[in-house]
Amino acid sequence: MAQLWGGRFTKETDQLVYNFNASIGFDQKFFKEDIQGSIAHVTMLEKQGILTGEEKKLIIKGLTSIEEDVDSGKMEITSEYEDIHSFVEANLIKRIGEAGKKLHTGRSRNDQVALDMKLYVRNQVVEVDLLLKEFLGTIHSIMKNNLDTYMPGFTHLQKAQPITLAHHMGAYFEMFKRDRARMKDLYARMNFCPLGSGALAGTTYPLDRFYTASLLGFDGPTNNSMDSVADRDYIIEFLSALSTVMMHLSRFSEEIIIWNSNEYGFVEIDDGYSTGSSIMPQKKNPDIAELVRGKTGRVYAALVSILTTMKGLPLAYNKDMQEDKELTFDAIDTTKGCIALFNGMMATIKFKKDTMARSAMMGFTNATDAADYLVKKGVAFRDAHEIIGRLVLYCIEKNTSIDKLCLQELKEISSVFEEDVFSEISLEACVEKRLTYGAPGSLVMKRQVEENEKYLSEGDLRNE
Ligand code: ARG
Repeated sequence: MAQLWGGRFTKETDQLVYNFNASIGFDQKFFKEDIQGSIAHVTMLEKQGILTGEEKKLIIKGLTSIEEDVDSGKMEITSEYEDIHSFVEANLIKRIGEAGKKLHTGRSRNDQVALDMKLYVRNQVVEVDLLLKEFLGTIHSIMKNNLDTYMPGFTHLQKAQPITLAHHMGAYFEMFKRDRARMKDLYARMNFCPLGSGALAGTTYPLDRFYTASLLGFDGPTNNSMDSVADRDYIIEFLSALSTVMMHLSRFSEEIIIWNSNEYGFVEIDDGYSTGSSIMPQKKNPDIAELVRGKTGRVYAALVSILTTMKGLPLAYNKDMQEDKELTFDAIDTTKGCIALFNGMMATIKFKKDTMARSAMMGFTNATDAADYLVKKGVAFRDAHEIIGRLVLYCIEKNTSIDKLCLQELKEISSVFEEDVFSEISLEACVEKRLTYGAPGSLVMKRQVEENEKYLSEGDLRNE
């Protein structure tokens, strides 16, 4: 047991208590951020005349050498330290002696951990944004190549109206684009530095918090020292945004699983992204999509967990907040893995265009267009709806489709039908006439794809 706070105590901590309290098992995840924060802190302390130039140099050299030794495997982060902050500080003192004992001047572990976690999460926001951008690139190329790949669009999982694959993928493009906007948004709101807030009430040392904040790439220091050490809103916002990403991926997964089923056969998942069965030799299962759908639960769980942890906490720091880490780390790793794998699966998936088009031609997806045809010929829409309804019933009995009837049969139901009905209700016509902004007609979709291309050429959060 190596602790930073032994002075006031006359007895050793019980081993079980020590284990229960310790966080080194998981907070070593932000080892590098801890070092980065400490370097900024001592740089500021020296500028303010609180440390000498020599002390600052020694401390930074010591910190850097610890980082190098851990990176190279020469040194191991072990559980004899309570947390990552103690590990770094104790080892610094071991390496450089007296000067090392000055690192923690004007700082508490409360503002230190608030900083480390924020730096870590901020890096992860950037990485998630980048992964989403790459994934959007994949969706974009599917869209570009499938402006005239016809397929049925569904409501209630029943065939509704024909659309294109580009249009369907375009819906997901919008969702993940919004997810990126959420990353940008929360990045801007969280990007204020808590360091220098001390335990809760600031400090009597003349710290320059603006300087520390700028050294660490923040837009400025946080405004209230109690809020600084008690705020975990940005984690909640990030987990909420990640939950939304997972919700989107899970819906996408569900569709891929359905499309990959024997009954639909719209897609074939690449062998590299499928798995087999131990007993049924014919099987090729969509396990990646199923796992992504399944893992959505644990990301939601992290969000609910931290909301619950935070809900009754009085100001300022409370040890409960140590619980902000493990599930957050897990949710981040899970979501990043899911985006990357889903991206790989979608980049290699094959779309069976003929099956999709054939499916779009069945199930009366042109019924609305047939009604619109009658409206164009002067029939009121409600009457046209009734006529086509009867026509559909007739087709169901005869096991055929509207476009396969002859003009005579159509005329028996309504004399308004003319020869031109057939070209008006063909699959192609049904899609290509849909030219309202946001609709699947390839003329408008093409413009949308161009817009998306422009959007993808813009920068990402790395350039913030
Ligand atoms: N491991 C602690 C956490 O994660 C660090 C802060 C400790 N502060 C304290 N007052 N005990 O929250």
